[in-house]
Amino acid sequence: MKKLKIGIIGCGGIANNKHMPSLAKLNHLAEMVAFCDIIHEKAVSAAQKFGTPDAKVYTDYRELLANEEVDVVHICTPNVSHREITVAAFAAGKHVMCEKPMAHTAEDAQHMIDAWKKSGKMFTIGYQNRFRPEVQMLKNCCENGELGEIYYGKAHAVRRRAVPNWGVFLDKDKQGGGPLIDIGTHALDLTLWFMDNYEPYSVSGTVFHKLGSLPEAVGGNMWGPWDHTKYEVEDSAFGYVKMKNGALIYIEASWALNILESKEASATLCGTKAGAEIRSGMSYPVDNLIFNRVKAGMLVEESLTPKGNVAYFEGVHEPPGIAEARQWLTAIIEDREPLVKPEQTFVVTKILDAVYRSAREGKEIILG
Ligand SMILES: NC(=O)c1ccc[n+]([C@@H]2O[C@H](COP(=O)([O-])OP(=O)(O)OC[C@H]3O[C@@H](n4cnc5c(N)ncnc54)[C@H](O)[C@@H]3O)[C@@H](O)[C@H]2O)c1
Repeated sequence: MKKLKIGIIGCGGIANNKHMPSLAKLNHLAEMVAFCDIIHEKAVSAAQKFGTPDAKVYTDYRELLANEEVDVVHICTPNVSHREITVAAFAAGKHVMCEKPMAHTAEDAQHMIDAWKKSGKMFTIGYQNRFRPEVQMLKNCCENGELGEIYYGKAHAVRRRAVPNWGVFLDKDKQGGGPLIDIGTHALDLTLWFMDNYEPYSVSGTVFHKLGSLPEAVGGNMWGPWDHTKYEVEDSAFGYVKMKNGALIYIEASWALNILESKEASATLCGTKAGAEIRSGMSYPVDNLIFNRVKAGMLVEESLTPKGNVAYFEGVHEPPGIAEARQWLTAIIEDREPLVKPEQTFVVTKILDAVYRSAREGKEIILG
């Protein structure tokens, strides 16, 4: 079988910690032949560590896209560049894995969807949390109807103090937003996927700029103090999403909030037959899945920590980044849909965009 030839665009944190090591483990399926970063040394270092012996290095992504050898690109650049690079990649005939969030506005995401549809190529977004064992187990249970009708969901992405103080995370122009778009996006993606409900009717939201620029708030940050003079994005955000079928989703996201429990890429689901919670994040030593229901007239709770061997993806227990890359590459090779579908991630972006708009305009945003 011919291996897929991958080009990496943006050789920073997520490329070095997820994409490149995961792809390297799947070297029977793909090889990394091209690397681009606006900082030349970063592309060179990535090529030396992960590339084929004759891997090419670029500082302009357009030159990488002109390389006909490249079949697939992984876009790992800051949020506001996702639209431009994705649209250009589809025009150049590449399959695209773009990092989350799909885009920082619904308008940008719409352009990406249009370009994808025109191209006939494959498209996915880097929501690796869908590949965690307990997440897959809960998804199976939701599909089997174990929870009944899920009419209330909560998407949790709340950190007490874990402001990313590197790169451009605090820069509004480059990221488009703060914790809502950065980590709220994962929690909302999971919640919508569990509920299998992609039809929002309206969104109300509030964002706060309270702690980010407060000098005394920077103490105790997980990665050391951030520069409060450069903090431009929100530090917490909250939203209510009414779905067309009457269901409700609450979303909470923060990098800094005076709260005890830090819960991230987590969800709470309330159904007519049972409820379930995924607990993950800094307050929890292990990721947990807890069901609650009534059994024999008693309220019972069942706490599970699945280790793998679930129905999806060959039953293999492997880190979510590798499972994500394996499913993506296999989908291309076998010409079937990726698990993380562009239309689903478009709805995530539309809702997040509407939370920001609602907060700005001080009113409910009607999407439906
Ligand atoms: N899936 C996840 O859980 C997860 C985690 C972290 C980051 N991310 C996402 O990954 C993206 C990058 O985040 P990061 O933490 O790796 O940031 P980073 O700052 O560490 O890396 C980004 C890299 O892109 C390069 N770059 C910037 N503009 C470029 C351009 N036009 N062309 C080529 N290279 C360019 C930068 O020089 C830098 O090396 C963001 O969209 C972020 O939301 C996802």
